[in-house]
Amino acid sequence: MGTGVAQSPASSPVLRPAAGAPPPESAAQDGVLVLDFGSQYAQLIARRVREARVYSELVPGNISAEEIRRRAPRGLIFSGGPASVYEEGAPHPDPAIYDLGLPILGICYGMQLLAHDLGGVVEPASRREYGAAQLDIDDPAGIFEGIPSETAVWMSHGDIITGLPEGFRPIAHSLNSPYAAFAGPLGRFGIQFHPEVVHTPAGKQLLANFLTRVCECSLTWEPAAFVQRAVADIRARVGSGRILCALSGGVDSAVAATLVHRAVGDQLTCVFVDNGLLRRDEGRRVVEVMSHQRHINLVHVDAADRFLTALAGVTDPEEKRRRIGRTFIEVFETEARRLGDIDFLAQGTLYPDVIESTSRETPNARTIKTHHNVGGLPADLRFQLVEPLRYLFKDEVRRVGIELGLPEDMVWRQPFPGPGLAIRVIGEVTRERLEVLRAADWVVIDEIKRSGLYRKVWQSFAILTPISSVGVMGDGRTYANVVAIRIVESDDAMTADWARVPYEVLGLMSRRIVNEVAGVNRVVYDISSKPPSTIEWE
Ligand code: XMP
Repeated sequence: MGTGVAQSPASSPVLRPAAGAPPPESAAQDGVLVLDFGSQYAQLIARRVREARVYSELVPGNISAEEIRRRAPRGLIFSGGPASVYEEGAPHPDPAIYDLGLPILGICYGMQLLAHDLGGVVEPASRREYGAAQLDIDDPAGIFEGIPSETAVWMSHGDIITGLPEGFRPIAHSLNSPYAAFAGPLGRFGIQFHPEVVHTPAGKQLLANFLTRVCECSLTWEPAAFVQRAVADIRARVGSGRILCALSGGVDSAVAATLVHRAVGDQLTCVFVDNGLLRRDEGRRVVEVMSHQRHINLVHVDAADRFLTALAGVTDPEEKRRRIGRTFIEVFETEARRLGDIDFLAQGTLYPDVIESTSRETPNARTIKTHHNVGGLPADLRFQLVEPLRYLFKDEVRRVGIELGLPEDMVWRQPFPGPGLAIRVIGEVTRERLEVLRAADWVVIDEIKRSGLYRKVWQSFAILTPISSVGVMGDGRTYANVVAIRIVESDDAMTADWARVPYEVLGLMSRRIVNEVAGVNRVVYDISSKPPSTIEWE
């Protein structure tokens, strides 16, 4: 699920926002809440709702009715989930939710919950229905408005509804599900299929129908509106306090800093720790854009020597990560202390990281991994955390970045790992080897951009292998480095596939690397998927 980039100290005791404080950057009004009952698609539902320009948040399935009333959404969506509603221990919503009178769309398990909790019958199906199915719509009003009466949907369920609650009626069926969709009073709908996945082509329309026709949400979730609200939130939160932000060169911290700067101007100071492990021109670009163009107070720390010293002799990938993390904290801490009294720390934490890191908020979701960047700061640096992107998905952050006028190359930058090129120089990291890798990597990026594929692939980069191979250049024998190229497609970095880049593009990359980068005489292309490989080699 994760974005893969270093993020989210949301679980850090030092940086946690004051207990009980409402999320200041939240904007639940006029939106819907997605109750998570453990579906692998729960996040996707929230994203799809936002793509329909309605704000949505993912909340635990057992959220109290009281809390829902406080947040005042226009409707609820119950996600799917792996359990059976009639089993002991299966997650159910707070029964008082049904008394709130809100419209509810139940998806798959969520539909079965509605049926079960309101007096219908749910039983194991004699045959599991999984994959593509045809839906026959019997009542084209309401959520099916504008959708063809026979339409393809994606099913994945082992239970089936055999009796509807009183007052409910079937509105669609499929071969195996007599009640593939139902409607009840108060705008309550259940659908046995998944509208959030691409295999349900009418899913978007269905969600839009529910949001606008049933919940009567207005379509206000736009980058400009977000910026306006976030700026007001930040101002209210920070007051006249001083705020610090660590820039990494990536889009998240750049957008967070720019938002904060728009809100509180010179009360913000950014610290950019240049660890010497960045790609060509990256450090220069951060200074140019943030300091020269946007006039943000920026402390640029050239700490390359320090990081290289810390990495001397280290070949183990995890040890590299540890030393880089530790050195970052030392450098950042020194700068923070030097700046004197700082009240707040701004971070570019994104919603997927919040969802993953805080099992408290979504107890049914699997915790996959928690990335830290400044999570390990010493206890006496007691900043309060400001996370203006805490409720945004990555694509939304990019749209906000564009709205704020950040340059496209920064906004569309591919994910880059916190430990940078150190985990792409396999074996010991030295200044010389970093230079070789940086030059080769630049060719890969340059060519993938020229081919028009840069935004279509997840990541594209070079790796400097610890292998030397024999080659021939001119009349002479060479014995030089082997560079690997890694280009992958992915949605979320949890799984990935090697990209089928045209041979011509790979050929150009190879020719240019061998010609332009001294010390390289061979280039190979990595054709492994994740799993079982990972995206990075270390
Ligand atoms: P793997 O190699 O685990 O990478 O398939 C998945 C995604 O995470 C990024 N990555 C990291 N990001 N610190 C980070 O901030 C790390 O230590 C780290 N290791 C891997 C990787 O670039 C990919 O996008």
